[in-house]
Amino acid sequence: MSGSELVAEKISVTFATRRHDPGHRALTDVSLRVGKGEIVGLVGESGSGKSTLGRVIVGLQESYTGSVRFDGETLAHRRTIAQRRAIQMVFQDPYASLDPQMTVWQMLEELLVVHRIGGTREARRERCGELMRLVHMPAGLLDVRPAGMSGGQRQRVAIARALAVDPRLVVADEATSALDVSVQAGIINLFADLRDKIGLSILFISHNLAVVRSLCDRVAVICQGEIVEVAATQAIFDAPQHDYTRQLLAAAPDLP
Ligand SMILES: Nc1ncnc2c1ncn2[C@@H]1O[C@H](COP(=O)(O)OP(=O)(O)OP(=O)(O)O)[C@@H](O)[C@H]1O
Ligand SMILES: [Mg+2]
Repeated sequence: MSGSELVAEKISVTFATRRHDPGHRALTDVSLRVGKGEIVGLVGESGSGKSTLGRVIVGLQESYTGSVRFDGETLAHRRTIAQRRAIQMVFQDPYASLDPQMTVWQMLEELLVVHRIGGTREARRERCGELMRLVHMPAGLLDVRPAGMSGGQRQRVAIARALAVDPRLVVADEATSALDVSVQAGIINLFADLRDKIGLSILFISHNLAVVRSLCDRVAVICQGEIVEVAATQAIFDAPQHDYTRQLLAAAPDLP
């Protein structure tokens, strides 16, 4: 397959909490593919390793074994700036990932400058206005700091920040969980649109199985650091093969 395909192979991550501690295995031999323009859901209970896998893929978790390939190129544990630009993450906790000292404009502009997008201040300001529209935010909030925003607004800023640099793959970690259903629907349409229009690939991590079912092409189910099942979305929901997948579906309150 050509294009911006992501292939993670046999990824293992061990966290040692203390010295001489044998460590806690957060991921064991996880392999996952996200094709160009494909939206793959990643579901599993809390602590199963979803965010850890996301961090490996975007290059934030530098100690792992296994390989991450993108566009046919094996990515080093420490990424180049171009590689960092190509794969962006929307963090699970936007409050922790946004700089409290900076306004939205300052955060976005800094990114655009680092990645040399938008030659002049005016061009960058215009681009930031566009990004705000894209995530359904009033442009007036560009000059506000995170503390002055609601949780849902911060979540949308985190999405705008990930999209600002024209990535080819986005790891969206609970990116819409704090949003009202109507805003959530807008963001989900935005993701689907970007997939259709620019072939954006998305790894969509979510506890909301109804959203996963409506958005994703395929779904991977992770349990205690291991992927137990990967299949087309309809197959996962209509004919789950693994016991753990069946339990997860049975426990979902919001599946119509
Ligand atoms: N920096 C770290 N140091 C030590 N242990 C960690 C670290 N990050 C994650 N872990 C452990 O790795 C495991 C997987 O964590 P991870 O955050 O990937 O889970 P998750 O599936 O994203 O959970 P949630 O749905 O609650 O976000 C957990 O047992 C967690 O305690
Ligand atoms: Mg997580």
